[in-house]
Amino acid sequence: MRTADTLRREGARILGEAGVDSADHDAAELLAHVLDVERGRLLLVDDVSDIDTARFYAVLRRREAREPLQHITGRAWFDGHEFAVGPGVFVPRPETELIAEWVSATACGAVRVADLCSGSGALAVAIARRLPAAEVTAVEKSEAALTYLRRNALHRGVRVVPGDVTDPASMVQALGTCDVIVANPPYVPAGSEVSAEVRQDPAEAVFSGDTGMDVIEAMIPIVADVLAPGGRFAVEHDDETAAAVVDALTADGRFHTVVAHTDLADRPRFVTAVRSGGDVGAAADPDRARMEQ
Ligand SMILES: C[S@@+](CC[C@H](N)C(=O)[O-])C[C@H]1O[C@@H](n2cnc3c(N)ncnc32)[C@H](O)[C@@H]1O
Repeated sequence: MRTADTLRREGARILGEAGVDSADHDAAELLAHVLDVERGRLLLVDDVSDIDTARFYAVLRRREAREPLQHITGRAWFDGHEFAVGPGVFVPRPETELIAEWVSATACGAVRVADLCSGSGALAVAIARRLPAAEVTAVEKSEAALTYLRRNALHRGVRVVPGDVTDPASMVQALGTCDVIVANPPYVPAGSEVSAEVRQDPAEAVFSGDTGMDVIEAMIPIVADVLAPGGRFAVEHDDETAAAVVDALTADGRFHTVVAHTDLADRPRFVTAVRSGGDVGAAADPDRARMEQ
């Protein structure tokens, strides 16, 4: 029998040789998953049974073949909350947490929030947890994603609406009037090189036409129709399309304070805008301050 630490180090070596960036982390996560313990408690496990060792090597081989870690464990963490994920649903990424932070910095009280292109529901649930008085609706088109979304939304204060966010009539009917709309839509230009792990996200969750702007452009007039005056919109986008998103929002003519935000690595990450005509549910206006800097 071998100790957990020996297995973890061996797993990290195998994953490192396979080109997995986060080899140490992933080997520890997989071993913790197999042993059903918290990752931080692995050092306390002296001997691992032969059966668990065989199970560890089996999941290690899947990760070595670049199956996403979260597909193997069946769970992902976002904004401190656990979500069920797997093949057929986009694995939530930590950079999208910036939008949840932006919502809690700009909105408060019983605001009506919609998360368009909700996938696993990570953003919708994070916002519902941050703003307990908010009414949060999650919209998603893919049947496979909806299965995970319904499971993740259960008892977490999020209403699930199956639907196509580019269809004006059904969105206006399903959403009514909103104070805040967020979206992490598909935005990668078709044909872009992506990592082995991203290739296992559903294509309709990742790619959006030749420029990556198809869903964003179709969504903007609908967002303007549905937002209350003073309501706020945040949309994540590709590294290369911040200017295109700002231009599309400005061209619609119904938004002001259109601001491009960067992530912690200083990469362009999301754009926010305010629906012209009033100010609803705003706790502060960090975006206007940003524009005036
Ligand atoms: C990049 S994923 C983001 C998922 C989730 N918001 C997150 O941050 O983890 C985009 C999601 O949009 C969904 N989607 C793509 N086109 C859509 C459309 N026209 N209407 C509704 N959902 C759509 C995909 O199925 C996918 O779940």
